[in-house]
Amino acid sequence: MTRVVISGTGLYQPPHIITNAELVEAFNAYADKFNARNAARIEAGEVEAMVGSSVEFIEKASGIKQRYVLDKQGVLDPDRMRPHFEPRADEQLSLMAEIAVDAARKALAAAGKQGSDIDMVLCASANMQRAYPAMAVEIQQAVGAGGYGYDMNVACSSATFAMEQAVNAVRCGTARCVLMVNPEITSAHLEWRDRDCHFIFGDVCTAMVIEAEDTATSADRWEVLGTKLATQFSNNIRNNFGFLNRCEDTDPDARDKTFRQEGRKVFKEVVPLAAAHIEGHLGSLGFEPTQVRRYWLHQANEGMNQFVLRKLVGREVSDDLAPLILDEYANTASAGSVIAFHRHHADLVPGDVGVICSFGAGYSAGSVVVKRL
Ligand SMILES: CC(C)(COP(=O)(O)OP(=O)(O)OC[C@H]1O[C@@H](n2cnc3c(N)ncnc32)[C@H](O)[C@@H]1OP(=O)(O)O)[C@@H](O)C(=O)NCCC(=O)NCCS
Repeated sequence: MTRVVISGTGLYQPPHIITNAELVEAFNAYADKFNARNAARIEAGEVEAMVGSSVEFIEKASGIKQRYVLDKQGVLDPDRMRPHFEPRADEQLSLMAEIAVDAARKALAAAGKQGSDIDMVLCASANMQRAYPAMAVEIQQAVGAGGYGYDMNVACSSATFAMEQAVNAVRCGTARCVLMVNPEITSAHLEWRDRDCHFIFGDVCTAMVIEAEDTATSADRWEVLGTKLATQFSNNIRNNFGFLNRCEDTDPDARDKTFRQEGRKVFKEVVPLAAAHIEGHLGSLGFEPTQVRRYWLHQANEGMNQFVLRKLVGREVSDDLAPLILDEYANTASAGSVIAFHRHHADLVPGDVGVICSFGAGYSAGSVVVKRL
């Protein structure tokens, strides 16, 4: 069977940082304004007063210290509380494609490939900026790729699910060299006015080149030993935004049209699911979790990753075994585990085995076991 490798990765990092202190200041200003505006109704018990957010809570509950965003001003404006993006003409490269092309060019350079070497483009992300034409097809054209491309969305697990599609396509011969991109403009679907989640997400885009081992020329090659995907329905992470909204005559700005979650339930339910998923996958390939040199895990919550790892290896683990990037990037949906891989793989040596694993809405979990060549 064709051996398949990851031969290059790339990262687009937005220009603006929002620290927790800046975020909390903006949120609290919004909450104060809301309470002042609704003072009479709050007094009458008709409306609940908003309660302020705190930096201490955010850091203790999640491990997040800051996030990158495409637009900072709009998010921190207490009279707006969402990013502002200029609409673009159909002839212009769309925003999602723009950040994907930036990350893609870096991944292609790392893999020593030209756009014309690519014959499959997967745009895998938790949100697409339009219904069609597929973002992947626009990106395909922008990087000069051939073949075909398509979009896919499995929320936070989009990247690992796309990696399986890429690996299978190369194994089956339906593609030779795949470009997978994860443009995550999470700031546009986050409810910045909800203190339960306003700190969670950050914007970013990751890219990866996956190809047959015999065409790979990069010195930095990771053989994909196996992929495993799983889903199990849950409403605990949900966003009802969609094309039927306008026919339902509901408020397009209603709370259910952006990200919402039952964070504590997700934490409790996904930890055992992810740990069992990884253990089962490693076992099917003949590995014990303790033989893994590095885990590049989904980046939603620092404590959650510690629990998953403790279940797997039976002890407290360091950053060396499972690097954390969410302190700097926050939760970047499907891109999180790919950022961790991109930033923290250079020190591993040939023969080292690692696991890239995502988990999130669906529920969904995807793992990719790799070995450094
Ligand atoms: C979201 C998350 C960080 C919240 O942490 P938590 O410890 O579960 O916190 P809770 O939501 O239970 O809230 C605890 C308390 O802090 C309060 N609180 C919530 N947000 C707050 C904020 N921004 N500032 C201060 N206090 C806050 C709550 O109101 C609650 O108060 P109460 O105990 O008086 O009711 C955590 O549950 C999480 O990360 N879960 C996993 C989510 C995940 O993986 N999602 C995948 C997304 S793709």
